Amino acid sequence: MKILSIETSCDETAVSIIEASGDLNSPRFTILGNALYSQISTHAEYGGVFPALAKREHTLNLVPMLKLATEEAFEHASKATQNGAENSTNQTTNKKSENAQETANTELSAELRAQILEILSRENDLGPALLDFLDTHEVFGIDAIAVTQGPGLEPALWVGISFAKALALALNKPIIPVNHMEGHIVSVLTESTELDRNDDIHNSKTNRAVQFPALALLISGGHTELVLSKDWHQYEVIGQTVDDAVGEAFDKVARLMNLPYPGGPKISRLAAESRAENLREKYKTDTTLSYDAGLGEYPWTLPRPMLKSSDFNFSFSGLKTAVLYAVKDKLKNRTDIADISANISTKELHSEHIASKDTPQLSEIEIKTLAEEFENAVTDVLVHKTRKAIEETNAQTLIIGGGVIANTHIREAFKKVADQTGVQLFTPSVSLSTDNSVMIGVAGYLRWIAKDKGILMPENLRKIDGTLDNGDFSMEKLAEFRANGNLSL
Ligand code: KG4
Ligand code: ZN
Repeated sequence: MKILSIETSCDETAVSIIEASGDLNSPRFTILGNALYSQISTHAEYGGVFPALAKREHTLNLVPMLKLATEEAFEHASKATQNGAENSTNQTTNKKSENAQETANTELSAELRAQILEILSRENDLGPALLDFLDTHEVFGIDAIAVTQGPGLEPALWVGISFAKALALALNKPIIPVNHMEGHIVSVLTESTELDRNDDIHNSKTNRAVQFPALALLISGGHTELVLSKDWHQYEVIGQTVDDAVGEAFDKVARLMNLPYPGGPKISRLAAESRAENLREKYKTDTTLSYDAGLGEYPWTLPRPMLKSSDFNFSFSGLKTAVLYAVKDKLKNRTDIADISANISTKELHSEHIASKDTPQLSEIEIKTLAEEFENAVTDVLVHKTRKAIEETNAQTLIIGGGVIANTHIREAFKKVADQTGVQLFTPSVSLSTDNSVMIGVAGYLRWIAKDKGILMPENLRKIDGTLDNGDFSMEKLAEFRANGNLSL
């Protein structure tokens, strides 16, 4: 079946069309079209994601993303048709008639047009933009629409949900509500690279079966969770952060170092440079490096929070504070910085948006070595807790999802964990590690074949009295997602 999927939970506006087949044990996915608009530059100056801005950007970008994904899917289909034509003429005819039928589907009645505008009435100009698209473009033949229902930023989520409802109504297709975190978990089933414990061969095509019990470590800007899964769609959160998420800690520490949002990739790059240049050692020995270097000892020693706690929980807020004090301490005797007290206060550090303009400058070698020490501290904690969880749950598969797994050092560390514990490790390809809509389509398909009760059939989109049914997309449901921040569907 073909699934159109929509993701708008945070600062990525994404639409994909995937082809999915197979059962839960051996699902197969092909990406036909995939379009993603990242709002990072819009939010960068605020040092984090602003919900109202995210909503506005989603309303502006959903139709362009739908258009891009659709065009790519048509291109993909026409290539497949051409290839098919060389082998069989019948197949070509079938494909064509399938698409033609979908074009006819988009001729909307006045009543339908009014309903679409009503559904999208709170989403700025999204309603008219969608109608314009449907009037002027051929719609790719899809069987269902999957959409992120939570967790995420509420105003941002609603744009995607309303858009899915409007499209479902226009195309007369079902909606599959998807949990964003489940999306991160199942993202490993598409184009995934199984980092085999013996070598680095990407053998995902030949060996993709997830063995249960499976443990998933979800590390993103909003989440840090260890989830135990005894079977598909059965999840138990066995550990989570008690304060900041890992990605959030990366981003906030980056602000302390005067690096722009999102700081994760930048810290990661600086840490890699520190290791490549062996700066830790140089710092100890080379007195010529800078006025503040060559002090004879390594400049940073950060804590490994909750390393010894008996549970599987994490804490990253203390690590972030430790960085703040280490930086303050490093700079306190600097004569070239006039007013240290004007720098970041503890209060600011805990607020969403840390001011950085008055932050004193560390030297390049200090920044790089600090990045390395911070990355090491985070990695040590993640690895230790996950390893403990693997041993105690007898997990056969370790799945790592979420934006932070784009971090090379952390990826490498988990390859070692797989080597040592014998667990089979699945990580998504880097492009599917951060938020995307492909993973929402994949999760949607798995819910579809499991006949999930949350699926909204087109006939249920409207109540008998003609008013629109919110189905599973109630405010209460969203609030529940936010409160739990977990996978309990
Ligand atoms: O999953 P994601 O795209 O969005 C959320 O759902 O949060 O994750 C984004 C987070 C950001 O905090 C970003 O700084 C972090 O992932 N991130 C990284 C790296 N690439 C992205 N953190 C560390 N190292 C990276 N290379
Ligand atoms: Zn995410």
